[in-house]
Amino acid sequence: MKVLVIGSGGREHALVWKIRQSPRVTRIYCAPGNAGIGELAELVALTPDDVQGLRRFAEQEHIDLTIVGPELPLSLGLVDEFEAHRLRVFGPNRQAAQLEASKAFAKEIMRKQGVPTPYFGVFTDSAEAQRYVSEVGAPLVVKADGLAAGKGVFLCSTVKEAHEAIDDLMRARLFGDAGDRVVVEEFLEGEEASFLAFVDGTTVLPLASAQDHKRVFDGDLGPNTGGMGAYSPAPLVTPALADRIVQEILLPVVNELKQRHITYKGILYAGLMIKQESIKVLEFNVRFGDPECQPLMLRLQSDLIEVIEAVIDERLAEVTLSWDPRPAVCVVLAAEGYPGTYETGQPISGLESLRTWKEGVVFHSGTAGVNGSFATKGGRVLGVTATGAGISEAIAAAYGAVGQISWPGMHYRHDIGQRALTHVPPEPPTHEG
Ligand code: AMP
Ligand code: GLY
Repeated sequence: MKVLVIGSGGREHALVWKIRQSPRVTRIYCAPGNAGIGELAELVALTPDDVQGLRRFAEQEHIDLTIVGPELPLSLGLVDEFEAHRLRVFGPNRQAAQLEASKAFAKEIMRKQGVPTPYFGVFTDSAEAQRYVSEVGAPLVVKADGLAAGKGVFLCSTVKEAHEAIDDLMRARLFGDAGDRVVVEEFLEGEEASFLAFVDGTTVLPLASAQDHKRVFDGDLGPNTGGMGAYSPAPLVTPALADRIVQEILLPVVNELKQRHITYKGILYAGLMIKQESIKVLEFNVRFGDPECQPLMLRLQSDLIEVIEAVIDERLAEVTLSWDPRPAVCVVLAAEGYPGTYETGQPISGLESLRTWKEGVVFHSGTAGVNGSFATKGGRVLGVTATGAGISEAIAAAYGAVGQISWPGMHYRHDIGQRALTHVPPEPPTHEG
């Protein structure tokens, strides 16, 4: 079987690494990939937004299965294009991808089904948005409706900040069209969790729980990023809570879409805010999270290709997933300046000796190959991902490897996984007799 993976981050490296383990796969391509992925797959010089080019490539090379990493090609209708040409592809179609591509659409779906989410207003007129902000008062969150690479969300502690955010989005058009419509919503306190599930249109099959660290600095300080690290499982998400998330959030959303004749197939990712008994949805993503995908793939024992085929063929009800019981932790190493403007082209040292690393894998995000070694090429550069007997051991293993890697300006958080340690571990299963 020939597989094409679309994307170029740590998520795609983890997917390619996992897919390589499937006995059915003979060849893997990745478009455009990165230097680390290039050691496991053939790189294809096509960008994820080149929907036509990717479809032509899949036809020419007789690709049996295409797996889409990032949200952009999904929102551009890559799946619709591939399906129209009878190509097998994993991911939601354009309409279903609106759950991520339009926050207003996601809110409407949730409101219809009574799925818990912060109270909100949706505005296309900036003066109206400003009035609403003045009325309800701070703290508030102002969000661009459309895709803004995770940067279109402003957490505002004063009304003034919220007014400025609306100006930035709607008048200065910082994110172009994405900010022509804004969502203004209640600021929630609590702890965040990422909840991912496979969905085949009807059945919802959750992955192991995971949690990422969004802020750039230790102690959850500084601006939001795409994610500075992640761990799985997330002890915050107990089995009982996971069950409620499926019943109260994911199934109602999938069913609401179905009533609108939209079949959701792929990964559905709910970004949640949890506080005691309350679970509220901050956002939906229509793809694997990055970096969450990295610890998840390290722990997944089932054949990913089998699961993906069951999604496409609507047989997910027959599948159970098996997981390595050991926790996994991923520490993201970033370039100087990230999440703002950052430098590229710095030579990375220390990767050679980690090729034989037993406890984990160094997944590449933004790297380029230079004369047989690696240089930085993105904001997030590497995802150092390890398993351990417990969370503490996984943390120690990941940071042990981090200590061997360096380049000028490299920065990372020192507290990835610490939050997991603040939760009492779930009780071990009891056996009768
Ligand atoms: P989103 O892309 O909507 O998930 O927002 C990005 C990040 O902003 C989230 O992961 C949260 O850390 C934060 N955030 C978003 N919405 C809220 C909210 N209503 N209350 C508090 N924090 C939020
Ligand atoms: N880690 C958050 C995301 O993938 O969007």
